[in-house]
Amino acid sequence: MHADDLDEVIRFIRLFDTDDARHAKNYFKWYLAKARPAGHLNLVAEERKTLLGVGGFEPADDEAENVYWISWFYVHPDHHGTGVGTKIMRAVSRAVAEVGGRKLYVDVSANESYEGARRFYDRHGFEIEATLRDYYAEGEDCVYMAKKVRQLDTRRSGH
Ligand SMILES: CC(C)(COP(=O)(O)OP(=O)(O)OC[C@H]1O[C@@H](n2cnc3c(N)ncnc32)[C@H](O)[C@@H]1OP(=O)(O)O)[C@@H](O)C(=O)NCCC(=O)NCCS
Repeated sequence: MHADDLDEVIRFIRLFDTDDARHAKNYFKWYLAKARPAGHLNLVAEERKTLLGVGGFEPADDEAENVYWISWFYVHPDHHGTGVGTKIMRAVSRAVAEVGGRKLYVDVSANESYEGARRFYDRHGFEIEATLRDYYAEGEDCVYMAKKVRQLDTRRSGH
């Protein structure tokens, strides 16, 4: 992701979640100002200048050794199920392995509308490790899914 992608990426994330877009804007401004801070990466998938998807990762806190979290990960609804997310996930997993990542986590809503996302992560080797009850809102749990980076990357050709 480059500085001239910022406005479009924020508009893109706003399609899914306005709060998430606001949070993303602050983070991406910091990320771009730092010129790719260590342990952080944000990728943009484009086809003929059209933004198809975004995905990236950031480190967990210092107490968790070589642990990373998926950050914003969205594919344009017109392109769901066409392999864009898989390409981004493979690039993300490779990059996490390259920075010495041991585990990669993602948090996703337990709501039915996120079933596709949970299936996507499951297809990419993530397993549910924990559920935070009523986390996003009363009645909306948060599911933590994780994969061991190196071990699962060797099975990448299966996807
Ligand atoms: C989840 C998401 C990133 C997956 O990206 P994608 O490009 O659609 O996925 P791919 O085409 O690479 O992979 C297809 C797999 O993704 C899953 N999937 C999730 N949503 C899907 C959809 N709407 N259509 C088809 N497949 C979908 C399926 O498991 C599918 O594999 P299967 O058909 O064998 O079960 C994307 O659908 C998305 O952005 N969804 C909405 C936003 C979101 O939930 N983001 C995650 C926030 S944590």
